Amino acid sequence: MPAVYYTEIPVQLFLFLECGRRPLVDETAEGSRIIGGHDAQLGAWPWQVSLQAQPAPGEPFYHICGGSLINSNLVLTAAHCIKVNMSPESWRAVIGLHHLYKPHSRTVIQKVSTITIHSDFEWGTFENDVALFQLAKSVKYNAYIQPICLPDTSPPLSHETSCYISGWGSTYENGKAEHILQEAQVNIIPQQICNKFDWYAGAVSLNMLCAGTANGSVDSCQGDSGGPLMCSFLDDTYYLIGITSSGVGCGRPQLPGIYIRAANYRSWIDSHVFDKTTTVSIQFVLIFSTAGWVTFHLIL
Ligand code: ARG
Repeated sequence: MPAVYYTEIPVQLFLFLECGRRPLVDETAEGSRIIGGHDAQLGAWPWQVSLQAQPAPGEPFYHICGGSLINSNLVLTAAHCIKVNMSPESWRAVIGLHHLYKPHSRTVIQKVSTITIHSDFEWGTFENDVALFQLAKSVKYNAYIQPICLPDTSPPLSHETSCYISGWGSTYENGKAEHILQEAQVNIIPQQICNKFDWYAGAVSLNMLCAGTANGSVDSCQGDSGGPLMCSFLDDTYYLIGITSSGVGCGRPQLPGIYIRAANYRSWIDSHVFDKTTTVSIQFVLIFSTAGWVTFHLIL
């Protein structure tokens, strides 16, 4: 009987701390390779966020950029998304969204309390194109809302790694935003190829990585920025590998999308987590172990 308490605690903790899972997707049923983009399944990328801004108070919000939910109150995005409006009051984060203009019953719209732009972000080069949106309130996870895992070191990436991009951005250069969340499978393109003279000619720094296809058949585009480049490795857990950042045009041959290497910013991110989540999880452990201990002793 007492053993129950000790086995239950880690199980609950495991569920509580889990990330990168897609409860609504049957991973074993995943089809073959995707060329170009297509509509994502409902709930396919539960960490995908739509960051929306309002041009002036009272006016409607519109989609600016994507973002990734990395814990219950933090969205990681690209710094260049915050062009004009720096004040958190003019932004909102929409989580658990599928159709851009039709939130469903599990969609959560959150106010933003703080925006943190990387202090070394450079407009010309897109170096350090990362920013964090802290939500005014933590979101409750459900089948449509889950955090993605953040790697702490760069995982080995090859042509075989299964990676996807997603977003509500344009489906062609200078096109308009899509209504249904789009997804596409992408290849990780080796740095030395992407930096070749007839590709990006050295503009891709070590904090960036290229993904897509050599002929441009798969790419991200305007409106996808800030969103995830995510890969799964041996299990079906997804890790945030890149943040959609820049590129010359969209879908052009030898000019693939450039993504910020998320793992390189792990310590920057950690230092900006004024963390409610960590505190909650520690409290969680304490409460559960105390409750377990008390019950255990009362029963005995
Ligand atoms: N900067 C764009 C945005 O703000 C994303 C660019 C991605 N470009 C590309 N060719 N992959 O949404």
